[in-house]
Amino acid sequence: MKLTNLTILIFIIFIKISVIGQNVNIIPQPNSAVFDEGSFNFTREISLQYNKTNKEITEIVKFFTMKLGEFPANTFSKIKNEVPNRIEFYLQKTKGNSEYYELIVQKNAIILRANTTKGMFYGVQSILQLVNNYQRGNRVSIPCMQLQDQPNFSWRGMHLDVSRHFFSIRSIKKYIDLMAYYKMNTFHWHLTDDQGWRIEIKKYPKLTEVGANRKETLKGHYNKNPQEYDGTPYGGFYTQEEIKQVIEYASDRYVTVVPEIEMPGHAVAALAAYPEYGCTGNSIDVATKWGVFDDIYCPTESTFTFLENILSEVIALFPGKYIHIGGDEAPKTRWKESEFCQKLIKDNHLKDEHELQSYFIKRIDRYLTSKGKKMIGWDEILEGGLSPNATVMSWRGTQGGIDAVNQGHDVIMTPTSNCYLDYYQSTDPSEPLAIGGYLPLEKVYKYDPVPEDMDDTRKKLILGTQGNLWTEYIASENQLEYMMLPRILALAETGWTKPKMKNFEDFCGKLDDQFDYFNRKKLNYADKLSELNSKVSIDDEKGLVLDWFTFRKKDQIKYEIYNENGAMIDEGTVKDRQFTIEKSGKHRAYVLKKGAIFGNPIDLDFFIHKAAGKKITLTNDPAKQYSGNGKSSLINGLRGSTERYGGPEWLGFSGKDAEAIIDLGNKLSVSSFATSFFHAPGQWIRAPKEVIIYGSEDGIKYNEIGKAIPEVGNEKIVRVDFPLKSSKPIQYVKVLIKRHGIISVGEQGEGNEAWLFVDELEVK
Ligand code: ACM
Repeated sequence: MKLTNLTILIFIIFIKISVIGQNVNIIPQPNSAVFDEGSFNFTREISLQYNKTNKEITEIVKFFTMKLGEFPANTFSKIKNEVPNRIEFYLQKTKGNSEYYELIVQKNAIILRANTTKGMFYGVQSILQLVNNYQRGNRVSIPCMQLQDQPNFSWRGMHLDVSRHFFSIRSIKKYIDLMAYYKMNTFHWHLTDDQGWRIEIKKYPKLTEVGANRKETLKGHYNKNPQEYDGTPYGGFYTQEEIKQVIEYASDRYVTVVPEIEMPGHAVAALAAYPEYGCTGNSIDVATKWGVFDDIYCPTESTFTFLENILSEVIALFPGKYIHIGGDEAPKTRWKESEFCQKLIKDNHLKDEHELQSYFIKRIDRYLTSKGKKMIGWDEILEGGLSPNATVMSWRGTQGGIDAVNQGHDVIMTPTSNCYLDYYQSTDPSEPLAIGGYLPLEKVYKYDPVPEDMDDTRKKLILGTQGNLWTEYIASENQLEYMMLPRILALAETGWTKPKMKNFEDFCGKLDDQFDYFNRKKLNYADKLSELNSKVSIDDEKGLVLDWFTFRKKDQIKYEIYNENGAMIDEGTVKDRQFTIEKSGKHRAYVLKKGAIFGNPIDLDFFIHKAAGKKITLTNDPAKQYSGNGKSSLINGLRGSTERYGGPEWLGFSGKDAEAIIDLGNKLSVSSFATSFFHAPGQWIRAPKEVIIYGSEDGIKYNEIGKAIPEVGNEKIVRVDFPLKSSKPIQYVKVLIKRHGIISVGEQGEGNEAWLFVDELEVK
């Protein structure tokens, strides 16, 4: 008997412990959640109980009541005094940090406690989400639960570029509302760039009179040849009064606004207004196309006075501690040509123009620091030596962030591979035009801003993460929403929730309720949950195997298989079926909803060549963020997308040649080799210099059996297909792909290693 009681007790304790990580229908997932029996019926009359003499709590409750007013009328009947069904708010010292809150949902009461109003605000957002996410028809029945929650990172940011395209104050407020709803706290406002200066500066009115307007805008994609323009003038800017309004609006939502004033590069709009601060003094126009421009600020004393005067107005406006000064993508062409710059380099014993950039940034840092502000810059500010007080935003990957942390600096991780929400989010060819790349929800979600093997002291310097929305290809509020939603939810969870509490499938399971919310708010979003995904891998026994899946569990997937001649040889329902691929031919699948095909069917055209499904080893690993479905992506019988290089079939290498050794299993005679490379100069991706193939009978002694120099034209895909000359059958094929190397001066990404993206290695 005793033993049984003990067993039950242990069992109960086990259940309590195991449910700490319970999946609550709130995004971001709270860090500790325990469900209790019963539920709180929100549909009844409710009283709000709080200390009405406390101004801060009263403000929060006012916000809460305002938000409740946005719910459909039938969601709850009324706020009334003295009804037993109640929500209680307490501002009191409990455990946790300044953003901590705890929420107890009981049958008749929801009790919210927090250390600070900030924590209380997040508790309120959780209640609002519970009401939204537990709506079923006319009923809102919130399960009883206990949450103890605080964020994993202090910087949970979203960036918005308003230079390439301008967004109204109303749009900006909507953006901030969405951020706040998902407990994000930092709005990085990219206010100046080559294509438009968007902030009123009273001392320099031409910045907006001239710099806020361009005469026309590039139409279609930058890579399109020839480029075309729309012929329509474009402009817009925010007055200082409007900016104050935004700052106040954000502050009411516990969002800090970080302004970005770009320097020394991305300054064409400013130089169009005041050419005297460039190196040539020549008059130039506000940029009408995207990219990187040679005209940058010249580091003269009068330029520093100009920039300090601008910054002093910016500092007076923005109460937050950070000012972002850009620092990225500043070509050194003008500085190289300028006598003044060359003399400055010499007089200050600088090594080159990179040290001059560092000199520039350090002066600005000294100014900002003297005004009590902290400077942030993109990771290029590491070049030529990091300024002492700088915080680094790592965007060209994570190495800049790691280097800065190693030098003891604070870092925000926002690598293009996982945080650039201007990239495509789907493989669907009908997706609206985007800058390029491929960043599906899963890849945003699975990002961890803390690099592996970082020690605890360094980890603390990673303040958090941020999503960036560059707007070259985002011209409307509608499109902005589409690019944000739902990817910012994934980012919000990465910023808030501890990695061990994150689970992508659980996250996806909550999205339908979020989509209902977006529908009610008339927000445009990308629902890709029912989009088909395929995974082709190499199984030691079965060879090539194919799995079809979606991220919406209840989806029904149908398949069809066609032979090489186009005749259908099989069809059915996928369920949990895995397909073994032995022959060339097409595998088609589609999602069926209510008897109709949903979205586009996906076709996988398998081309079974001599290396397909065999064993492959790579001398150098691809970059972690561009590792496709692993090395087998190179010999799985499938070619990659011709539009998106981030997908499962492409492997991306940086700073290393690609070298693969393929074991064909037996000695085979080979006649030719083919593969493709992605070539997108705007994204710093270049076809390689050379491809060399070696053959071997024993895997020890290799002979060169073919080579090719890729021919680069205007196309994104560069293909090589060339004969192999081997006198004997071979078992081993070594493929050596020599990368492009450093990008030349005057090209986009100059001075950086070009990316190498490699597709299927086809041995015939
Ligand atoms: C950047 O994307 N140029 C920071």
